Amino acid sequence: MYLSAADHRIPLSDGNSIPIIGLGTFSEPKLTPKGMCVASVKTAIDVGFRHFDGAYVYQNEHEVGEAIREKMAEGKVRREDIFYCGKLWTTHHDPEMVRPSLERTLRVLQLDYVDLYIIELPMAFKPGDEPYPKDENGKYLYHKTNLCATWEALEACKDAGLVKSLGVSNFNRRQLELILNKPGLRHKPVSNQVECHPYFTQTKLLKFCQQHDIVLVAYSPLGTSRNPFWVNLSSPPLLKDPLLNSLGKKYNKTAAQVVLRFNIQRGVVVIPKSFNPERIKENFQIFDFSLTKEEMNDIEALNKNVRFVEMLMWCDHPEYPFHEEY
Ligand SMILES: NC(=O)c1ccc[n+]([C@@H]2O[C@H](COP(=O)([O-])OP(=O)(O)OC[C@H]3O[C@@H](n4cnc5c(N)ncnc54)[C@H](OP(=O)(O)O)[C@@H]3O)[C@@H](O)[C@H]2O)c1
Repeated sequence: MYLSAADHRIPLSDGNSIPIIGLGTFSEPKLTPKGMCVASVKTAIDVGFRHFDGAYVYQNEHEVGEAIREKMAEGKVRREDIFYCGKLWTTHHDPEMVRPSLERTLRVLQLDYVDLYIIELPMAFKPGDEPYPKDENGKYLYHKTNLCATWEALEACKDAGLVKSLGVSNFNRRQLELILNKPGLRHKPVSNQVECHPYFTQTKLLKFCQQHDIVLVAYSPLGTSRNPFWVNLSSPPLLKDPLLNSLGKKYNKTAAQVVLRFNIQRGVVVIPKSFNPERIKENFQIFDFSLTKEEMNDIEALNKNVRFVEMLMWCDHPEYPFHEEY
């Protein structure tokens, strides 16, 4: 498969389409200067990005919206050129909280609709405005999870025109099946956003998703920022991998470009985060080379089956998704 920059959208099961590369926008709020996200999203639009992955819980959704609106006002892009993915947080799973949560995102973005709205995690936490609710002993406060009820509330948001497509994130096969087999299902999940890169290739989940017309969206496609507070550092840095670097040399590309190319070439959407102008540009330059079948297999064989993003602090939640094989 050779994808050119011009046709880098892939179809979704509901008739919409998704750009195969997007800009991830999660950045540690305390370590990120104000305005850096606005500048980065604007740079990304200038170099060709049209897809932005954000979330209310990232605390910079207003900056993403500001950048998009400024570029629209400049006449650089139209709203319909942009694909924005927002996320429903764990404390807003209760059906009556779903629409207000999406409406809050729209207010913050100052946009009329989002292109994709996804359930960020399949685990419900105590409802409310505290994003990480804990008791006095520091134990997380969970909540009864009813993914089908949450999904029905999302379906109503799509019917109301607040969102074009609906998806999920961090769902395992069983949790996807729960939605797919829901009696009276009106809108199928079009995508599942999960960790995916050469050290965690997700071969089985990818196959399952492809069989069900669900696009796999790869988060942490470059191997994360390696922040020890939330990243499992037992695997070495992905971008230092010798094979990825030698393939980079062959094509006059960087290891980052090789790993992104690997995923898009197998039909996986990538959402690399960068707030550095040079690297934002670099990450988009993946449409002018192609890996051979053998190289794709060699990269696939790097799989270590170890997650960088384990979320072990929530492993006692009844819907913790990563106990199952996939
Ligand atoms: N649904 C979920 O549960 C979930 C979980 C995690 C992430 N996500 C989404 O996925 C996005 C991406 O994942 P991520 O942020 O964990 O990690 P990532 O995209 O794999 O890696 C980001 C890190 O790589 C650096 N980087 C970017 N381009 C580079 C390049 N060309 N060469 C070398 N280093 C480069 C970035 O630094 P600079 O900024 O300095 O370039 C940053 O430190 C997030 O921003 C978020 O939108 C979703």
